[in-house]
Amino acid sequence: MEAARRSILVVDDEEPIRKVLKTHLTKAGYDVVQSSGGKGVFDTLEETKFELLICDMKMPEVDGVDILEYTKEHFDTPVIMLTGLTDTAVAVDVMKKGAFDYVMKPVKKDDLLGTIRKALDYSDLLLRNRQLELENMEYQRSLEAKVEERTGELRVKAKELEAAYGSMKSMSIQFVNVLAETIEAKDHYTRGHCNRMRYLCVELGRQVGLGAERLETLEYASLLHDLGKIGVNELILNKEGPLTEAECAKVREHPKIAEKILVDIPLMERVASIVVAHHENYDGSGYPGNLAGADTPVEARIIAVADLYDAMSSDRPYRKGLALEIVLEEMERVAGTQLDPGLVRLFIDNKIYSYIKN
Ligand SMILES: [Fe+2]
Repeated sequence: MEAARRSILVVDDEEPIRKVLKTHLTKAGYDVVQSSGGKGVFDTLEETKFELLICDMKMPEVDGVDILEYTKEHFDTPVIMLTGLTDTAVAVDVMKKGAFDYVMKPVKKDDLLGTIRKALDYSDLLLRNRQLELENMEYQRSLEAKVEERTGELRVKAKELEAAYGSMKSMSIQFVNVLAETIEAKDHYTRGHCNRMRYLCVELGRQVGLGAERLETLEYASLLHDLGKIGVNELILNKEGPLTEAECAKVREHPKIAEKILVDIPLMERVASIVVAHHENYDGSGYPGNLAGADTPVEARIIAVADLYDAMSSDRPYRKGLALEIVLEEMERVAGTQLDPGLVRLFIDNKIYSYIKN
């Protein structure tokens, strides 16, 4: 059962054959146009978009193969060739040239109708396929446009975030500097200490191979390592002469106090975890966690190295700073017990102390 009447062009130079075909095909529900061939067939093809072409092979004026080739070149119309019994080899050849199929003469009605149905189904499939391809391309295009639009929006958002992060960062730096100055104001012995620590630690961190982000965290931690001294009595901090056991215990609370202050500040958790560990010793004899070796973050081990160097080499109200060889000798002596020996080696071999700027 054909849903809509579909148009077929029958080209044959023999009128009786055309008539028979027209009768059969019209009965089967097709709209049939006949052509006796000749040059006029090309005009007929151009004027009407037929859905199927049935074409005789051997015709006097224009050969069936020429019509087939013309049709294949200009339209998507499927072509069924009609061929005499002796034309089998030629029939195979026309298949190669793009005919959908061929039907032997004399034409058997059922064979022809079956072939027509297959040809039209095939051409419908091709059409549907092409539509799907077009839809797919259209979908791809709209998808790409959407992706581009979203990318643009994201880029704008990223820029805004970057700007926000930049201003937050500069606020953090200012905040950390203010805190560092506060610590130094409280502990008279450590004037300039935080700033020197920053140069030593960042350079040693660089030599160890820390990335930019970790170096920045280390920079903050080096400035803030003694932040906890805010919570220790000034009289103890500035006491000249040896501390009592109780006073010592008070001083030893400062890493934990700093951790408590910093841990709740956004972006400072990592700094907190470094600062709390800056008095851990390499052999596990330090405080507050008795952490040994790599259990202490490398940033904290770096701070410990720089801290010892600066404490010994800088002037104190009650003594001059020690000479470089003596300081380095002492650092080597405590390498492996108090300090990370690998870091001490790097510190001395690369003259990290020469990076201090005033
Ligand atoms: Fe400290």
